[in-house]
Amino acid sequence: MNIEDIKTVGVAGTGSMGVGIMQVAAQAGFQVRAVDVSQAAWDRALKTITKSLERLLAKEKITEEELKATLSRISFSTDLESLKDVPFIFEAVFENLQVKKDLYEKLDAIAREDVVYASNTSSLSITEMAALVKHPGQFIGMHFFNPVPMMKLVEVIPALQTEKATTSLALEIAKKIGKTSITCKDTPGFVLNRLLVPYMLDAVRLLEQGVASRDDIDTAMKLGAGMPMGPFELMDFTGVEISLYVGDIFFEATKEPRFAPPGLLRNMVKAGYLGRKTGKGFYEYPAK
Ligand SMILES: NC(=O)c1ccc[n+]([C@@H]2O[C@H](COP(=O)([O-])OP(=O)(O)OC[C@H]3O[C@@H](n4cnc5c(N)ncnc54)[C@H](O)[C@@H]3O)[C@@H](O)[C@H]2O)c1
Repeated sequence: MNIEDIKTVGVAGTGSMGVGIMQVAAQAGFQVRAVDVSQAAWDRALKTITKSLERLLAKEKITEEELKATLSRISFSTDLESLKDVPFIFEAVFENLQVKKDLYEKLDAIAREDVVYASNTSSLSITEMAALVKHPGQFIGMHFFNPVPMMKLVEVIPALQTEKATTSLALEIAKKIGKTSITCKDTPGFVLNRLLVPYMLDAVRLLEQGVASRDDIDTAMKLGAGMPMGPFELMDFTGVEISLYVGDIFFEATKEPRFAPPGLLRNMVKAGYLGRKTGKGFYEYPAK
């Protein structure tokens, strides 16, 4: 299949990542068929996309016509059948192998024989997921970053079984939707999280050992390494529990001590100090 053959893409899961993938795909001119088990998730997604496009309009980055045309290219259903003639499907459902397995089983029963699946998983094995589908050669990882419309990077991760044509197609699609891609072997963390997760866990270890204060560690990385946020600001932003969850998964897969979450991080999650969304993480966020 060539990129010219792809006029419509599917997006399964309209949560934090699906919503961004829908937006950038529709802005690039693809018809987008979105599917979610939850109507409420779609209602939220539509509001998010509309607001995001309105911000671009206010900054004169898009015109009123482009805003309307983008929205008109996106349709939604809670019925997977709506993806039956779609050649390329992005998957962004819950990060749970069983949920993904069930979804691919249902998709395989209705999808085109030549369909390509691109999973947005952050921590599951692409090779293990490819082994679950009818045509493993047509399965690939495309790891976007949150928020998708802002973050330029996509990690493209071929599984052991992925055909070269599938990888080429994924790279072309990433380019068409305005992203810069890197390719990476199917290994825990791919490139970005393999470097970033131990970095954040090490910051917690420094704090735990009393080497430096939270503020000084954040200041060091912002002013000395040019990071836009310090590690504690970043963990509060992404959710403290995500660093724990991902660290545990990568440690389990690799047994490398650098992925082992420190006790302080585990206790913070037990205490419900999850970051911005709970009003307290490494920092406090008083309600406005
Ligand atoms: N959130 C991030 O920062 C981030 C970054 C990169 C990659 N990812 C990956 O993206 C994927 C989605 O993450 P998210 O943060 O958007 O999750 P989310 O919880 O925000 O959204 C998941 C959506 O999937 C829907 N869903 C669940 N089962 C479904 C099914 N069978 N069919 C259709 N829809 C279904 C849910 O209703 C929900 O709306 C995960 O694999 C995650 O690892 C997340």
